[in-house]
Amino acid sequence: MTLRSAKWFAGQNVPGFVHRSAMRASGFSRMAFEGRPIVGICNSWSEVVNCNMHFRGLADSVRRGVLAAGGFPLEFPTMSLGEQLMKPTTMLFRNLMAMDVEESIRAYPFDAVVLLGGCDKTVPAQLMGAASADVPAIVLTGGPAAPAVFRGKQLGVGTDLWEYIDDVRAGRMSMTDYERLEAAAGPSRGHCPEMGTASTMATIVEGLGMTLPGAAAVPAMDSRRMQVAEEVGARAVGLAAEGVRPSQVLTADAFDNAITLMLAVGGSTNAIVHLLAIAGRAGVPLTLDRFHELSARTPLLVNVRPAGEHLVEHVFHAGGIPAVMKSLESLLHTDALTVTGKTVADNLPAQPVADTAVITSLDRPFQPPQGLAVVRGNLAPNGAVIKCAAASPDLLVHQGPAVVFENMRDLLARFDDPDLDVTADSVLVLRSAGPRGAPGMPEWGQLPIPSKLLRQGVTDMVRISDARMSGTAYGTCVLHISPESAAGGPLALVRDGDLISLDAHAGVLNVELTDAELAERRAALDQTPPVRHHRGYAAMYVDRVLQADRGCDFDFLVGRSEHPENEPDAVFDGWVGGW
Ligand code: FES
Repeated sequence: MTLRSAKWFAGQNVPGFVHRSAMRASGFSRMAFEGRPIVGICNSWSEVVNCNMHFRGLADSVRRGVLAAGGFPLEFPTMSLGEQLMKPTTMLFRNLMAMDVEESIRAYPFDAVVLLGGCDKTVPAQLMGAASADVPAIVLTGGPAAPAVFRGKQLGVGTDLWEYIDDVRAGRMSMTDYERLEAAAGPSRGHCPEMGTASTMATIVEGLGMTLPGAAAVPAMDSRRMQVAEEVGARAVGLAAEGVRPSQVLTADAFDNAITLMLAVGGSTNAIVHLLAIAGRAGVPLTLDRFHELSARTPLLVNVRPAGEHLVEHVFHAGGIPAVMKSLESLLHTDALTVTGKTVADNLPAQPVADTAVITSLDRPFQPPQGLAVVRGNLAPNGAVIKCAAASPDLLVHQGPAVVFENMRDLLARFDDPDLDVTADSVLVLRSAGPRGAPGMPEWGQLPIPSKLLRQGVTDMVRISDARMSGTAYGTCVLHISPESAAGGPLALVRDGDLISLDAHAGVLNVELTDAELAERRAALDQTPPVRHHRGYAAMYVDRVLQADRGCDFDFLVGRSEHPENEPDAVFDGWVGGW
C-alpha cells in the first residue's frame, strides 16, 4: 500500500523538496527515511510527571524496534499530565492533551504512531486523540513502579497512603514517621504499582487490543519492559504497512472485552469515564448500563490492591494480563481484532496461570460478580457508580440522614468541626465537584471521615458526590452523579437531614423526597454557577464539557468525523492545492 508519508516526501515538486529538506536539516539522510514507514513516537515524558520520567529511555527502545523492522522513527512531545503535581486536577486537562495528540498525529507525516503514556490521564488522552486521528496506532505504557517498603511492609502507594493519613489524623502515627513514609513512598519511576487508574488503563489497553499481549504489567524497571518497547516499535512498522487503524480495533466488542477485564481486576472507577470518552471518539455507542450488565456476570479474578492484597508486579509474575484474559476467555469476544493483526483468541496464552493465589479462574473467584454497580434514582437520573468491591458490604444497602457540604472549601472548613451533627449512619454529601462545578471533576469522592468518628473507630461511611475517586482509594463512595449539581442535577437540592437511600444491589440511589418537594426546592434554587471562568481553556471546558455519563469529553469532539477536511490525508491535500 502507498504510505501516508509519501504525500510529504515522494513528490518531485516544491512541497516534496521542502519536506525532504526539513528532514535533512534535522540530520536525516534520504536513505534513512525515504520510502520507509514513518513511525511517530508520541512521548508524554516530562520532568513534572514523575511516573513518566523513564520515557526517554523507553523511546530509545521503541526507536530501535522501529529501525530493526525497516521503519524510521520520529519522536515528538505532547502535553503531559502529572497526577500529583498538576493543579487543580489533571482531569481538567485530559481533553486538552487529547486534542494535542489528535492534531499532532494528523498534521505530521506519520504512517503509524506509538503512544507512550503512563500516569493516569496520559493514556486515555492519547487513546482519545488516536481514535479521532485514526492513523495506525499502538500503545506502550510505562509499567508499574517498584513497590515501596515502609516499616518492613510492602506498600501500594495510594492504597496505604489513605490508611496512614487516617492514622495521622487519629493520632496513631507520629509526624516523624509520616516524613519517613513520604521519602519512601516512590522508590522508582513508573506508574502507581497497585490497580489504581494508571494500571487499570494499562490493563484496559490490553483488553481493547491496542497493545501487544503481556505489555501492561511488565514492571517499569524490569529490562523486559525495554524489550517490549522494541517489539512495540517493530509492530508499529507492521501496522503502518498493513494500514490497520484504531477504528478497526476499537469496536463495541473490544470495549466489552476491556470492561470485562477491568471488572476482573477490580479496576478504577476512573476508567469508566475514560472508556466512555474513548468509545465516544470511536463512534461506539457505549453507555453506563453496559458496565452494569457486564459487572453482573464478571467476578473478581485478580488478587491485587486495592480490592486484594498484591501489587501489579505479582500479577506480571503470575502470567500477566494474558493469563487473566485466558481465565476470562468464555466471557470475551475472542474474535476481536487487535493491533497484533491477530484476534484475541490467537493472542491468548496456552500455558496456565503461574500463581493461582494471584490470578484465579471463573469457577473459584476472589469475589462474586457485581464488584461495580451503576445506581440511578431521583438523585442520579442519568446514573452514578459505586465500586462495591472496595466498599463495606454492610453499607451497600443503607439509609441515613444527609450531611451536606456545598463544595470542597465548605467540606474542608467543617468536616472536622467537633460540633458537626454527624454520626456513623449519616450520609456525607459533596456537591459542586463535577466536571463543570469544580471544574474538572477532581478525585474528591472519597470524602474524609470526620475525626470525631474516626476516634470512635468508624472506618467507613456512605459518601455521595458528583466527583471521581482515586483508583487507589476505597470506601462506600457513590461517585460520578449525573447530572452534576452545577448542571442542575438534583444533588443541588439535597439539604441536611434529608434521608438518602442507597441500594447498590438493586441499582438505586434516592433522596426520600416527593417530586413536588423536589420541584419546590428547584424553584427556589440559586442557579448561579459556583465558579466562574471568563477566559481561556477553563472557560471553554466549563462551556462544552459533557457530563460523567458521557465521559466528560467536549461535545464537539464526540463521534467519528463526518468532515472530509478532518481525514488524515485530506489535511495535507488541501494544503497542496493551495500551493
Ligand atoms: Fe502517576 Fe499514580 S500518580 S500513576
